[in-house]
Amino acid sequence: MMEDYLAKAVEIAREAGALVADEFKRPKKISYKRPSDLVTEADRRSEALIIERLRKHYPTHAIVAEEGGGGKTASDYCWYVDPLDGTTNFAHGFAVFCVTLGLALRGEVIAGVVFDPIRGELFTAERGSGAYLNGERIHVSPVRELSESLLATGFPPFASNHDLNIQFYFRLTERSHGIRRAGSAALDLCSVAAGRFEGFWELKLNPWDKAAGTLLVTEAGGRVSDLEGGPFNLLADEVFVSNGHVHDAMCRVFSEVVAEYRGASLKAKG
Ligand code: IPD
Ligand code: CA
Ligand code: CA
Repeated sequence: MMEDYLAKAVEIAREAGALVADEFKRPKKISYKRPSDLVTEADRRSEALIIERLRKHYPTHAIVAEEGGGGKTASDYCWYVDPLDGTTNFAHGFAVFCVTLGLALRGEVIAGVVFDPIRGELFTAERGSGAYLNGERIHVSPVRELSESLLATGFPPFASNHDLNIQFYFRLTERSHGIRRAGSAALDLCSVAAGRFEGFWELKLNPWDKAAGTLLVTEAGGRVSDLEGGPFNLLADEVFVSNGHVHDAMCRVFSEVVAEYRGASLKAKG
């Protein structure tokens, strides 16, 4: 039964990915949801396609989609849809973006797909069955030291917690091989699952950004939590994932910075 959900999600993500990749070659039609928060014709067309397909196959399921095309139902099943993750990249012609769908059953993500149509990389996972890239099993990286880690983060398109995240960015840059900010949270999560990054965190993400990617990380053997190492909540803002080995060391840096930064700003206010 579950296999059917993943297979259908893959089919839909591939179709939406092809649409988005095709739009990428054309002049972009950009509008603004608010300053610096872009949306393109590709976001809207991709979402319309995904919702039409989901409604046809699973008419009773709830859908939460970024551009607002979903709808609540009484179903225990809920699809989280980001029709184009990496919109700012897309709008600028920077080819790092994807389509992602995650299916939750009573709040727990049970299947997820992230499709990067430019690289032809399809990341898939079902709860309890491992994580895959183009059908091959993937695992998180075996690196044990934070000082030997490559990390990633992101910033929301509108100012929110930027100051604190810049402090995390600064401190963790000093303690690791560096930090990437590639502009697609779903792909960042997949990069941890595939062992390309040792860790990724972000302070303000929506459930559609992280539903599929966090399942990928768990199924690839990684750890998913909040910034303090506590339980992950799909509906909360923050997310912190790692290969597991560097998790506690990163948590210590986060709490160190929070203590210092709060202290510093209190002092600055006199
Ligand atoms: C954004 C991307 C970005 C992250 C932002 C998200 P969007 O999603 O995932 O990497 O830093 O917080 O809002 O708007 O391109 O779908
Ligand atoms: Ca997104
Ligand atoms: Ca999006």
